[in-house]
Amino acid sequence: MEALAGKAQSTPPLWLMRQAGRYLPEYRQVREQAGSFLDLCYNPKLAAEVTLQPIRRLGFDAAIVFSDILVVPHALGQHVEFLEGEGPKLNPIANAADLSKLSAGNASERFGLVYEAIERIVSALGGQTPLIGFCGAPWTVASYMAGGGGSPDQRAAKLLAYRDPQTFKALLELLVETSSGYLIGQIDAGVRALQIFDSWAGSLADNDFLSFAIEPTAEIVKRVKAVHPAIPVIGFPRGSSAYFERYVNGTGIDALGCDTAAPLDLMAQLQSRLPVQGNLDPLLLLAGGDAMERRVKTILQQLSPKPFVFNLGHGILPDTPIENVERLVNLVHTGT
Ligand code: CP3
Repeated sequence: MEALAGKAQSTPPLWLMRQAGRYLPEYRQVREQAGSFLDLCYNPKLAAEVTLQPIRRLGFDAAIVFSDILVVPHALGQHVEFLEGEGPKLNPIANAADLSKLSAGNASERFGLVYEAIERIVSALGGQTPLIGFCGAPWTVASYMAGGGGSPDQRAAKLLAYRDPQTFKALLELLVETSSGYLIGQIDAGVRALQIFDSWAGSLADNDFLSFAIEPTAEIVKRVKAVHPAIPVIGFPRGSSAYFERYVNGTGIDALGCDTAAPLDLMAQLQSRLPVQGNLDPLLLLAGGDAMERRVKTILQQLSPKPFVFNLGHGILPDTPIENVERLVNLVHTGT
């Protein structure tokens, strides 16, 4: 919390994106018990349990609520499922008629289950370790909603935006409205910081980056801060180093999450304005050994003198050896 407030730490805090996940055998066990991935997200007791697993085993300095960015379209009534080994599948939103079928009507019931998980986690953590809440940024969530799943170029979302800008704008507005309320609800339930994941911001340039990534995120930050001004917000515009400055200036975020490809010297430069978070390559964590050690030490040397939160540049990979994660935690916490 101090690092996010802009105070450099002698030992930087550490958490990892997707730290609750398939690389942990205890996660795989609970996941099997829960049924589907979404069943796990909406089971407050089990979602709390998997959130706490990596804290207990590895001693990370923050927990992140176990859920998914696609809970938002699901709560809006879009069909969402996670197919084993294939990732998410949704009924694509292709036009205004599809969009008009979505409504915030059932959202509060589904979000309520996430809030209940948060209350359980916060009470188990006992004030020692802060809990981070999150949502997907509207552009990234819209790209899954329009595409019916992930895509390398976000073509369905872009084509909708270019062919029917009014419908696309209405979709982004619905996401701003729903996500802002969802984040406020997470804070009311007990999270102490937020992260907004814009995983696909890297495919946007110039005016599109402004209209689809910066402006909707800025609106969410504004609405959340109107209610909870003191809760820090981490923005994670993945793959967008070229726009970091504009993103920081335009969104009002408190800390910048940086992806694997972000140059360390640019991150160090930005630290004179705000805390940065990142950005070890998840493949270096998977590989471990000398290559990982060298890179971790370089990151610490360059970024740790100023406000910094150690993290990966993207989510941890399912086949990452736990010993490598243990080694990483030790290296960041002790420096040797
Ligand atoms: O970080 C954490 O530990 C908290 C939980 C979390 C998950 N997803 C759990 C999850 C968070 C913060 C997310 C965010 C998320 N989800 C993003 C943004 C970050 C990023 O990775 O870029 C995105 C794009 C999604 C959408 C999503 N969810 C995809 C594409 C997939 C399938 C890919 C995969 O890894 O299987 C998911 C599933 C998912 N979300 C899993 C987990 C632990 C794996 C599901 C399983 O257990 O089978």
